[in-house]
Amino acid sequence: MSRFLKTLLIAGLLASPAAAGKLNLGRAALPAEVAAWNIDVRPDGQGLPAGSGSVIDGEELFTDQCAACHGDFGEAVGRWPALAGGHDTLAEERPVKTIGSYWPYLSTAYDYIFRAMPYGDAQSLTPDEVYQLVAYILYLNDAVDEDFILNKENFTSIALPNTGSFRLDDRDNTEYPAFSRGVCMTDCKPSVQITGRAIKDTASNTESE
Ligand code: HEC
Repeated sequence: MSRFLKTLLIAGLLASPAAAGKLNLGRAALPAEVAAWNIDVRPDGQGLPAGSGSVIDGEELFTDQCAACHGDFGEAVGRWPALAGGHDTLAEERPVKTIGSYWPYLSTAYDYIFRAMPYGDAQSLTPDEVYQLVAYILYLNDAVDEDFILNKENFTSIALPNTGSFRLDDRDNTEYPAFSRGVCMTDCKPSVQITGRAIKDTASNTESE
């Protein structure tokens, strides 16, 4: 069928009385389906599930499920990403950006690990397991002691070392007004003087000024 006919057909369907107000396509998502999608965890702790996990338990789980790629101490194996270290490297030519050296919010670690890890078996971890892993990664980054237990309640009290180096994007209020001022198009400068040229003056391109 030509694209034109298809478009007409779809337009016709949409305009039909049956579709008025309601498309009669699909069905409303079930609460369990919405919950399965709604897994984001935010810097203020919104979205964190109930649960807790210790550094000690995290070490065992990390060794089993993560160390093959990320290294026993988060130092990375081969070219897989490092999860620890890199402190004081941010100003270097090749900064090592890890959860400890670079990330502004711990919530991203929780969100990301639950959402995407272990690589190839995403979303297989329970909330307690994710708390354990995040606690262990904090320990690897010298942010907590080995007897530390991370839970929903103390989560937002953990500050990562680099948090203060991030600024809110305020370009809406700063750059945008500066760049959207009216632009002068005529007689903007009293006199124009040429101060440099892309090519050296030669007889053929020298203009009389
Ligand atoms: C088979 C290898 C593999 C395993 C096992 C694995 N990861 Fe990963 N991990 C990756 C890869 C690859 C990335 C980068 C993915 C990307 O950038 O899209 C990554 C990224 C990450 C990141 C983000 C790093 C950053 O700075 O961007 C975290 C945190 C993480 N993994 C934690 C874990 C944890 C915790 C486990 C164990 C439950 C785990 N990973 C198991 C391969 C693995």
